[in-house]
Amino acid sequence: MSRTRLTYQDLDRLWRRGREFLGCDYAVLGGAMSWVSERNLVAAISNAGGFGVLASGSMPPDLLDKEIAATKALTDRPFGVNLITMHPQLDELIDVCGAHRVGHVVLAGGLPTSAAIKRVKAFGAKAICFAPALVLAKKLVRAGADALVIEGAEAGGHIGPVSTSVLAQEILPSMAPLVPVFVAGGIGRGEAMLSYLEMGAAGVQLGTRFVCAFECIAHPKFKQAFLRASARDAITSMQIDPQFPVIPVRAIANAGTERFMEMQRTVIDRFHRGEVDQKSAQLEIEHFWAGALRRAVIDGDVENGSLMAGQSVGMVTSEQSVEAIFDEIIGQALDALDQRNRASATPEEAKGVA
Ligand SMILES: Cc1cc2nc3c(=O)[nH]c(=O)nc-3n(C[C@H](O)[C@H](O)[C@H](O)COP(=O)(O)O)c2cc1C
Repeated sequence: MSRTRLTYQDLDRLWRRGREFLGCDYAVLGGAMSWVSERNLVAAISNAGGFGVLASGSMPPDLLDKEIAATKALTDRPFGVNLITMHPQLDELIDVCGAHRVGHVVLAGGLPTSAAIKRVKAFGAKAICFAPALVLAKKLVRAGADALVIEGAEAGGHIGPVSTSVLAQEILPSMAPLVPVFVAGGIGRGEAMLSYLEMGAAGVQLGTRFVCAFECIAHPKFKQAFLRASARDAITSMQIDPQFPVIPVRAIANAGTERFMEMQRTVIDRFHRGEVDQKSAQLEIEHFWAGALRRAVIDGDVENGSLMAGQSVGMVTSEQSVEAIFDEIIGQALDALDQRNRASATPEEAKGVA
């Protein structure tokens, strides 16, 4: 379909603020995914016109230093770094970003302190924070956050309880006029991206959709699990007893998911029989998934490892280059805009001459 000039202008009008904030062609962040978003995928996303974000996970500062340097060797376009706020060396990790003049730091995994936000901004970077509710979005902006990511429960990995569509309705009307807000969770196609842009988002963040990129180093078995899964296979980890909380994680169900349930039952029975105290039982539950994402992504242990994935996994149907993924998503958004423009255009506009 040949698109009218209006169409391109419309998309640009919708996401220009996000593009300018990130300094790239498409206001699409490649959401940081531990073990997955390393130098290759991050550089490929930035080189293709999006905004790659390095996942630092539990990396110590010297490893992050090497990974940023290696990413810079693969791209001269802007990319960001995702830091986990509860990392014991958060300040040092921020300083590593400062030494590399990283332009954007995403503070994830819990609410960042205003001191952490200030430290990021002190070297001139933009601080991007996750806002799980409107009241916290306001608090983060007061603390100096330059932009927000709102991530709904459809997303892969650690999630909150509220869906993307509800978070968007709650947060965009009051926060989008103040700072750029990027919407994440469950976005697999361009029409969905467009709808959030039309609601006031500055851009979107996608994770799951990039896992099966050729440039992604994830183990072939990890990618295969994504290609086979449908939306309903990406389920949240279950807690069987409120006395023993489980942090909700969305992942493709596998044998590990079953074993996790059995393990919880066994440990909780031992607690009730007085064989183990509450703290040790809780620790056993928390440690079950330690190292599990690495086992799946890097070693290809798709039975026992963690197959973190969002519900958009059903829309991942083939291995593609990052460039092809962008072409597809942006093409879908443009086609949707184009259909509307044609319906309301004058004959000259419809021919693309206006
Ligand atoms: C395998 C995997 C690992 C992830 N690891 C992280 C992480 O380390 N830090 C983070 O902030 N978000 C992490 N996420 C969330 C993504 O950054 C992104 O927000 C999410 O994938 C968006 O939802 P989608 O998967 O539906 O596109 C992870 C997601 C996946 C699928």
